[in-house]
Amino acid sequence: RSSGWRDSAMTETATNEVPLGIQLTPLNPEYQRDPFSLLDRVREAGRVIWDEQFGRWLVARFEDVHAILNDRDLLVDPRKANEKSFNAMFRQRLLGEDREPSMLFQDPPAHTRLRGLVSKAFTPRAIERMRPRIEEIAHELCDRVEGQERFDLMAAFCQPYPTIVIAEMLGVDPKDQANFKRWTDDSVAAGFDPFASEEVRQRAMRAGEELQAYLRRVIAERRAEPRDDLITAMLRAEDNGDFLNDEEVLSMIGLLLAAGNVTTTDLLGNGMKNLLQHPDQAQLLRERPELIENAVEEMLRYEGPVTFSGRIVPDDRVIAGCPMQKGDSITVALGGANYDPRLHRDPHKFDVTREDIDHVAFGGGRRYCLGAPLARLEAQIGVRVLLERFPKMRLAQQELKWKRVPGFRGLEELWVEV
Ligand code: HEM
Repeated sequence: RSSGWRDSAMTETATNEVPLGIQLTPLNPEYQRDPFSLLDRVREAGRVIWDEQFGRWLVARFEDVHAILNDRDLLVDPRKANEKSFNAMFRQRLLGEDREPSMLFQDPPAHTRLRGLVSKAFTPRAIERMRPRIEEIAHELCDRVEGQERFDLMAAFCQPYPTIVIAEMLGVDPKDQANFKRWTDDSVAAGFDPFASEEVRQRAMRAGEELQAYLRRVIAERRAEPRDDLITAMLRAEDNGDFLNDEEVLSMIGLLLAAGNVTTTDLLGNGMKNLLQHPDQAQLLRERPELIENAVEEMLRYEGPVTFSGRIVPDDRVIAGCPMQKGDSITVALGGANYDPRLHRDPHKFDVTREDIDHVAFGGGRRYCLGAPLARLEAQIGVRVLLERFPKMRLAQQELKWKRVPGFRGLEELWVEV
């Protein structure tokens, strides 16, 4: 196996001190403070960098990241990754499951089929219909902290908000919502955190089982008695006589919860933090509320919740100018591409009026985030309502505490004074 490319990439590493492996995770305090400056160094070291510690090719230039995300030949199923490659780390999780993995870990034709069916239920129209209710939910959450001078915006708003919205979309009964929220929070949080303690992991497993048992009951109820909700829509979604079966609907709900809640929470948390750190930008947004859509795109670009995504090489071939081998892992630095000066002028500046914002915060190609329209709508409404309701909100925290989950960017807490 020729490793000429890898050797030269590593030499580059030694001389230019390109941060790699564990240094590109929140275990590195410097990365926690400012991942984007470290990713600048990765991006400027070359088009493709070999990361020996994690067994992966790293790509961080916008044009290359965009091309890789849109390359229809590239794969994601970790079972197809080389033994020692990065993506193989996720294999264990799949092998432990006796069910088929969610579509997140599947390639065509299974991915095409599942994505096609769920797209018929999770439509832009179904999302747009939620608009008035999302606005009410945002106000209800603000009502709950009315009168308090100081509170944690993550716990009070950013965390509960997307879970309540998706629960209502799915059609979870109001009386079950508290349980639903607890099960979802407990099971999803640990699922993403490789450093979770044994206690947290046990709790996550129990919560996951309870959530599944609950959803199985709801699915059976909707089969017997359809309603106007997302679960019913998924059961009814049809493609040439093909339908999702109950287990597939269950797995899809799990994926929506896992992929959608924490990410939306973190987009709001990071976005509000950036507005609070740039009061001129917050003021501008209060004066010109029509900027909100653009502001949310800038929030996604400047500090999106997902920093990395990945693909697996299907056969020996050249990608981004670099010869790669079948089963190799490619990690694309979404957060690096979003700061590429070849595309963005003054990328380290947070500017809600920035024009033509092109970013890869939602990935791309046929795996482009299914929930992007919902995440955008929730963020636009959430930020606007928070700015309206708390015109004097200021940051009340010196040191920010970031979550430790590799690949993601989100705050543990965000203390504010209003
Ligand atoms: C996929 C980001 C919210 C559902 C993805 C991907 C990214 C992403 C980067 C991978 C794309 C790729 O590798 O090409 C985000 C961000 C969000 C967000 C930043 C919030 C700001 C949501 C929401 C939902 C959702 C609210 C659903 C309720 C999904 C699903 C996939 C996905 C199902 C897998 C798509 C597939 O494999 O075909 N998302 N997401 N996401 N997202 Fe999101």
